[in-house]
Amino acid sequence: MPRYAFRLNGQPVSVDSWDPAQPLLYALRGPLALHGPKFGCGLGQCGACTVLVDKTATRSCQLPVSRTAGRDITTLEGLGTPERPDAVQAAFIAEQAAQCGYCTNGMIMAAKALLARTPKPTVDQIKQALDGNLCRCGTHTRIVRAIQRASLATSERSESGRQV
Ligand code: FES
Ligand code: FES
Repeated sequence: MPRYAFRLNGQPVSVDSWDPAQPLLYALRGPLALHGPKFGCGLGQCGACTVLVDKTATRSCQLPVSRTAGRDITTLEGLGTPERPDAVQAAFIAEQAAQCGYCTNGMIMAAKALLARTPKPTVDQIKQALDGNLCRCGTHTRIVRAIQRASLATSERSESGRQV
């Protein structure tokens, strides 16, 4: 059976699959037992399955596992822990930016990609970056506030010389 090797949350992993078109999402939630990325639409339209591929926010339901070979994949589990959440996770908790929470994985991963390329985004830039991430609970206002909070926390830590 073909085997696809890549880095997942900093660790080398491999997945066996007969189907080169199998979505990465299925491999993550199946054999790799990670449940941060969610299955929402399966069509690339909701963002619930978002992961970082080489630091770019990517719909894992649309990425064939055969195209992950040698790449660097980060999921929600790779950001922080319940005891030590990363800045975006901590900001989402502080702003209570989730109701059902189904969209939260995608929102956080999209926010990570945004803050990596634009550390101090405007509200418009935040809205634009999250445009393709759907939240049917209507939590958008809190989500935007959480990303602003994460941006501020990250900037303050950078300016004080501490590692983010
Ligand atoms: S499940 Fe991938 S975009 Fe909706
Ligand atoms: S919090 Fe329920 S879909 Fe966003």
